[in-house]
Amino acid sequence: MRIIRLRLNGDEVQTSCPSHWTLLELVRYQLELTGTKQGCDKGDCGACTVLLDGKPVLACLTLAANAEGKSVTTIEGLMPAHIQAGGTGSDPIQEAFDECGALQCGFCQPGMMLSARALLNEKPAPSREEIHGALSGNLCRCTGYTQIVQAVETAIAKACDKDVPKPAWQTELDNLDKEAN
Ligand code: FES
Ligand code: FES
Repeated sequence: MRIIRLRLNGDEVQTSCPSHWTLLELVRYQLELTGTKQGCDKGDCGACTVLLDGKPVLACLTLAANAEGKSVTTIEGLMPAHIQAGGTGSDPIQEAFDECGALQCGFCQPGMMLSARALLNEKPAPSREEIHGALSGNLCRCTGYTQIVQAVETAIAKACDKDVPKPAWQTELDNLDKEAN
């Protein structure tokens, strides 16, 4: 067993786990934060993405011991971090995913949102190419990626006080209305 001290979603935590455990195992099975998903468990899908000292990492490929003395943010910590920074309610990325319908089963969503949050923390108004690049390690088997990218662009537009793109579902509804009339 190994004792690990870390800052988890803003709280100082001391915990322990077998030395060979990954950060994903520590978070899910010792700390019981199941928002971090166990997908492929070999670095392919991005479902296990968490922020380690603000940078996105694949928790399934990161030893728990590497979190010693560091700050770890899981999806459960996104809203508290936003509130602590002076915001209200959910993180704008979470709001935008909801508004844009950027999910179906939701399995990829925690990792997607944390990757997006890390990008916007580093660069508040990235280009579409940069959004694609930042999310390229996060796979979604359900949605296609249109709404996901649109959600990130919506969060950017709101933060920069720019025109918010119309959600893809709204455009489709408008088109159906036009066809019906
Ligand atoms: S579970 Fe870590 S990349 Fe798939
Ligand atoms: S919504 Fe199902 S994997 Fe992305």
